[in-house]
Amino acid sequence: MGLDAPLIRIEPPGPRAREIIERDHRLLMQSFVRWYPLVIKRGEGFIVEDVDGNRYIDLNSGIAVLNIGHNHPRVLDAIREMLGKITHYSLTDFYYEEAVRLAEELTRIAPMSGGKRVFYGNSGAEAIEGCIKIARGHFKNQRPYIIAFYGAFHGRTMGANTLTASKPVHHRWFSPMLPCVLHAPYPYPYRCPFNTDDPRECGEQALAFIEDYILGKYVYGDEVAAIFIEPILGEGGYVVPPDNFIPGLRKLCNEYSILLVDDEVQAGMGRTGKWWAIQHWGVEPDLLACAKAIASGLPLSAIIGREEIMDLPRGSHATTFGGNPIACRVAVEVIRVIEEEKLLENAERVGGYVIKRFRELQDHLEIIGDVRGKGLMIGVELVRNRETKEPAKKELASILNEAFKRGLLVIGAGLSTLRIAPPLNITLEAMEKAIDILEDILRKYDKEVRGLR
Ligand SMILES: Cc1ncc(COP(=O)(O)O)c(C=O)c1O
Repeated sequence: MGLDAPLIRIEPPGPRAREIIERDHRLLMQSFVRWYPLVIKRGEGFIVEDVDGNRYIDLNSGIAVLNIGHNHPRVLDAIREMLGKITHYSLTDFYYEEAVRLAEELTRIAPMSGGKRVFYGNSGAEAIEGCIKIARGHFKNQRPYIIAFYGAFHGRTMGANTLTASKPVHHRWFSPMLPCVLHAPYPYPYRCPFNTDDPRECGEQALAFIEDYILGKYVYGDEVAAIFIEPILGEGGYVVPPDNFIPGLRKLCNEYSILLVDDEVQAGMGRTGKWWAIQHWGVEPDLLACAKAIASGLPLSAIIGREEIMDLPRGSHATTFGGNPIACRVAVEVIRVIEEEKLLENAERVGGYVIKRFRELQDHLEIIGDVRGKGLMIGVELVRNRETKEPAKKELASILNEAFKRGLLVIGAGLSTLRIAPPLNITLEAMEKAIDILEDILRKYDKEVRGLR
């Protein structure tokens, strides 16, 4: 599925897509987001095809999951190899080597020194739930409090949802949330909650807020088990914090013996050009949650933690499907592919090109307020007005739809940010074509927002 032939054959959604969507709407609970009516049939590399034969350049990767691309031959081989053997046998009560083999790989690439242990689940939210239990359990419930950040997304199960604070819709009608969870402002340089344009000061103020307000006025540091952080905000807008923030957070955690929990569900597995986003700041977490890209789309998540913290007692935490043998076997292959095909390097190289192109466009297009990111986790924030920074929410929705109709899949994050997260093996040529399409559409909407004044 190359780029030579025209991408779009028939205006999407075509007849087959419309028919499936109609059945979906009748039968599935409609609590999803869904930006445009894409009905997938198959994928290969960085191209996906819909049920009417249209093809698209994929800047979504199934929401940061297909880091090694769709249907990688080595993933398919690994699945085939396993199918003749075993599809399930629960780690809760038994052993199998695939789980151990993957743990050897994960502990090898984990961003912590010293002994490490792994726990498997099925989803990102489940990994976060596990981290909450491990952190509280480690302190034998002597430290009930947890700190998370405004803007963060950690999942939608009740514990993870309590930490999540990126949109009120995640909480409305579901209270009460988990008790003893407090939130601090995330240092979002482009929209610093402390009213400064200086990223360094923004980072310092965010750290000071935790010390002066949360620990100074609400709870003692020795009542807090953990601080949960996305080293780069995902759903919250692909926001990269100031360089002093994560090292400062580590220092603060050390001072009060609070565990630093690194949510790498979206930013991990090479997405940012390093195995783990936190490595951009040379910081070691105590616990790390990983899911999405770990098994190229098979349901799997992992918690990697320092050995002395991963100490929950027998029977206190386990799950039937966690660490499925096929998913574990595939995950080992994903790690090998990222290393052997030098995908960290490619993420950095192609990501550098994307940032450069959008920064050049930013010089001419008023609608581009901010361009940020690491590797191939890139956010382009759209605004109606550079001065007021009013989010271009409606425009974003229209831009994503137009891109879809022209054979490009990209979705939003935060209020009005283009979320660029293609497979890490995307070529420069494909990325160039994708940005050409976006540039064309952005030029049109740039005229529109200028006309609003
Ligand atoms: C940073 C982060 N943490 C946790 C989750 C939850 O993962 P899942 O949807 O697999 O439960 C997500 C999902 O988008 C995420 O982006």
